[in-house]
Amino acid sequence: MENKNEGKHPELLRALTLKDAVGVGLGAIIGAGIFVVTGVAAGVAGPAFLVALLFAGLIAACNGLSSAQLAAVYPSSGGTYEYGYRLLNPWYGFSAGWMFLVSKLTAAGVVAIGFGSYFYQLVPVLSPLALSVLAVVLLTVANYFGIKKAGALNLAIVSVTILSLLYLVFSSFPAVKMENMVPFAPFGITGIAEASALLFFAFTGYARIATLAEEVSEPEKTIPRAVIITIISAIILYAAVSYIAVGVVGAELMAGSKSPLQVVADALTTPAISTVITIGASTAMLGVLLSQILGISRMLLAMGRRHDLPPFFERVHKEHRVPHLGIFVTGAIILVLTIVGSFEFIVRAASFTILLYYSITNIAALKQPASEQIYGKLVPVLGLIGCLAMSVSLPLEVIASGIGLLLTGYVFRKAFRKVYGSVK
Ligand code: ALA
Repeated sequence: MENKNEGKHPELLRALTLKDAVGVGLGAIIGAGIFVVTGVAAGVAGPAFLVALLFAGLIAACNGLSSAQLAAVYPSSGGTYEYGYRLLNPWYGFSAGWMFLVSKLTAAGVVAIGFGSYFYQLVPVLSPLALSVLAVVLLTVANYFGIKKAGALNLAIVSVTILSLLYLVFSSFPAVKMENMVPFAPFGITGIAEASALLFFAFTGYARIATLAEEVSEPEKTIPRAVIITIISAIILYAAVSYIAVGVVGAELMAGSKSPLQVVADALTTPAISTVITIGASTAMLGVLLSQILGISRMLLAMGRRHDLPPFFERVHKEHRVPHLGIFVTGAIILVLTIVGSFEFIVRAASFTILLYYSITNIAALKQPASEQIYGKLVPVLGLIGCLAMSVSLPLEVIASGIGLLLTGYVFRKAFRKVYGSVK
């Protein structure tokens, strides 16, 4: 499989540096999780959602290290899809790829809609939906013009998001009131467990750089470093923002809002803080959207190569060196999801499918020969246990729809292979 692409299509461009790679990771991570889900988590766990956040961060870190260890040895587009094929069997590989597509496409629809509603507060000249549509179109076009341009745009977007969150953190320490931390865990361990499963979503994206591995320069060094820097920065930033949020307004007020950080900003006297948070939320959604288009199009390319999807997805643009057809199809699907409103049941099922995706990452990392296991066995074992524990804690109907989506994928795979032939 390694050289299947050789000579047939231009190759992707290995242009992402460590800085770009960290930017892609942070762009993929910082999104609706911190700006929206922290409120829901505060509702189910009280101030103890801070503990849940650290637990979710620990599991995410283990998964991220497993991805990094795999990507360092197998630096191909597709991430866990490729590791599943190479180290386990085609069913694991296909399942990972399909589940990635389902969860990231629907998440992209959700963040596009989120962008529109935040940005509308700043620039109410177009409707929120028109703004969402514009964002999808512009980011799709930006992706088409090459990985370097997309990486640079992503860095600019992510910097704005991070600066806005840092402004919130540093300006509001004096407003933290310790009485907002009590009672600390009103819903006990059950609340903390449920909040962990919810907050895990906030960290997803740490492995995006592994999905783009074919475009990272010196991948064996750059990817592990980038994943570690990304996940540590995300944990510190999220913990600081969450501590400030609950300390300033308390868990109850956070839980009562769809924009908990906006509630915090409104409670502060810091100059322009509300506008800054709205800008940060808008750029956070843009960053996630940009990185979803990057990741989904590379997954389409990888799956097209093995005929798990139509092979035209593996075409690479001669000049821009990107999988252009995959990029445009990705943009078109996200556009439809944005306009019709993402199907609620798929969005919910995605929380299950993405946990299965990371479970497969950890199983593949455990299958690597000992010489490749740079972080030892404990890391993938903890990651796997964490993912399985969180997936069984989800409601039964969510699990059932996730399995349903997976089975649908198998039907499609069979059909594609019938039409285009099998590739090992
Ligand atoms: N981690 C990403 C978010 O919070 C998916 O939106």
